[in-house]
Amino acid sequence: MGNRVYHREPMDASDIGHSGLKQWVAGIAAICKPDAVCFCDGSDAEYQRLCTELVDTGTFIRLNDAKRPGSFLARSDPDDVARVESRTFICSRREVDAGPTNNWCDPQEMHATLQPLFEGCMQGRTMYVIPFCMGPLDSPLAQVGVEITDSPYVVVNMRIMARIGRQVWDKLATSGNFIPAVHSVGHPLADDEKDVAWPCNKTKYIVHFPEERSIWSYGSGYGGNALLGKKCLALRIASAMAREGGWMAEHMLILGCQSPDGDKTYVAAAFPSACGKTNFSMMIPPEHYKGWKVTTVGDDIAWLKPGANGRLYAVNPEAGYFGVASGTSNKSNPNAMATLSRNTVFTNVALTADGDVWWEGMSEEPPAGLIDWKGREWSADLGEPAAHPNSRFTAPADQNPGIDPDWQKPEGVAIDAIIFGGRRPGTMPLVYQAFNWTHGVYIGATVGSETTAAAEAAAGVVRRDPMAMLPFCGYNMGDYFQHWIEMRRHIRYLPRIFHVNWFRKDEDGNFLWPGFGENMRVLEWIIERCRGRIPGHETQIGWIPHWKDFNTEGLQGFTRERFNLVMKIDPEEWKHEIFSQGELYLKLHDHLPKELVFQRELLACRL
Ligand code: OXD
Ligand code: MN
Repeated sequence: MGNRVYHREPMDASDIGHSGLKQWVAGIAAICKPDAVCFCDGSDAEYQRLCTELVDTGTFIRLNDAKRPGSFLARSDPDDVARVESRTFICSRREVDAGPTNNWCDPQEMHATLQPLFEGCMQGRTMYVIPFCMGPLDSPLAQVGVEITDSPYVVVNMRIMARIGRQVWDKLATSGNFIPAVHSVGHPLADDEKDVAWPCNKTKYIVHFPEERSIWSYGSGYGGNALLGKKCLALRIASAMAREGGWMAEHMLILGCQSPDGDKTYVAAAFPSACGKTNFSMMIPPEHYKGWKVTTVGDDIAWLKPGANGRLYAVNPEAGYFGVASGTSNKSNPNAMATLSRNTVFTNVALTADGDVWWEGMSEEPPAGLIDWKGREWSADLGEPAAHPNSRFTAPADQNPGIDPDWQKPEGVAIDAIIFGGRRPGTMPLVYQAFNWTHGVYIGATVGSETTAAAEAAAGVVRRDPMAMLPFCGYNMGDYFQHWIEMRRHIRYLPRIFHVNWFRKDEDGNFLWPGFGENMRVLEWIIERCRGRIPGHETQIGWIPHWKDFNTEGLQGFTRERFNLVMKIDPEEWKHEIFSQGELYLKLHDHLPKELVFQRELLACRL
């Protein structure tokens, strides 16, 4: 097939020269029994056609074209609003390879469970075949997947989130490798049965077979459960592949920071879900930071691989942002607001009287005449937010005014710092630097955060989320730590490792740090440390900034006392911290690298 040019529209099976893929599609069709099969070409015409169909069937509401051109609102079933970690499985042959932090099931048993669910599950629907590429098409790190889905909402979102269609069919040619991913909303339609706006099923399975390298997802149409390139492929399957291949698939944003001298530094940062990763990746430096510029390479996932020159390179496997809408504003993230000003799919936000969207945090006062995410006329008396706390926007990355010029560079960008962080009201200072790589791995392995709406857990509890990968690691977390430790030997110029906490509070519960654009000050310190240009202050937990080296110019009211508070290391709090890490250590103890045991001991000694 090679560089074959397709002439027909729409495509059909005869356009596909990949016999293995055709056979696989035919096999899935035989099980799922859709009314029709559509091979997606990824064209704009196809996208527009599907959006129009979604409007006609009531899944999409077309937004006011003058206010939000080319954009749509979808409202999900109230029972299908987030990733479902309790229904997410890693089905490795051996239980120990999934490890104690993943749900595991024997692969054969799981296939036997899924088979009757998928049998006839697409009746009355069209089955779409979406070839997609994670990573720039010409990148040596790119991975191709093919998602089969009965959800046109998924096709539309996948076109924003990944490179899909003819370019990928061409890349696959007649025999290219691909990761098969099958998705169904699990809502077959009997003859004449009317569809609902958001079909899904109470029974849900999001299943990964890391050895087979395949993905099966049933019952949910939402986000990471259904857009299988993102969490399922680019993190869970990719992390298992990366372990074998000597690279890393991480839940990290990637940003570039140019200083006034023209030097550019790239950093990768891992924060648990809903800690403001998208905001940090799109940060705009405060006013007086003249000549500083932050650019976005990615907001959620990084694939990292040592280059021949000994540095660690990162690519963003995604092509769009599936960001949390709630809380996003011109104050918190102007670049995101510009990105989602057009050609955006919104899910579970509120609809304004003039056909635009709104969510809590977008403005101080809610506009009059809102329709909430459940389709009801909203008033504050309902006692519920108008937009779901996990409401989302799906927007193309190239609409971001702050996109990095090298965001699609095939070899990626060279990383100088890795930053971990979490939402920690206490204990954790604003920033500290690890003494070395292995200490940094320990810091990453013990990341904790208050839970929020993106996960199903009760809000306000600190949960350990190692490297922010707890829900996304496709193998045993202890082995994953070992892989991190071993990577040191393959990277000659190791990135420096840091921990940040934008969320520390004072005794009255007020945030001690303004956050958002002001995080530039922390980033500046990190960059200067990477360049070896300023000394750090050595403490029991790592290096922290000296007051004199921390840029507070123009930061109203940020006194030395306040700095001391936000940087405070309280040995009592830290003893409790070490103690509370015990739960994770016990859970993982079979496979926990001894380096991490020693790091914890050393910290205890220093305290
Ligand atoms: C996400 C998440 O949606 O981490 O990116 O939950
Ligand atoms: Mn994420």
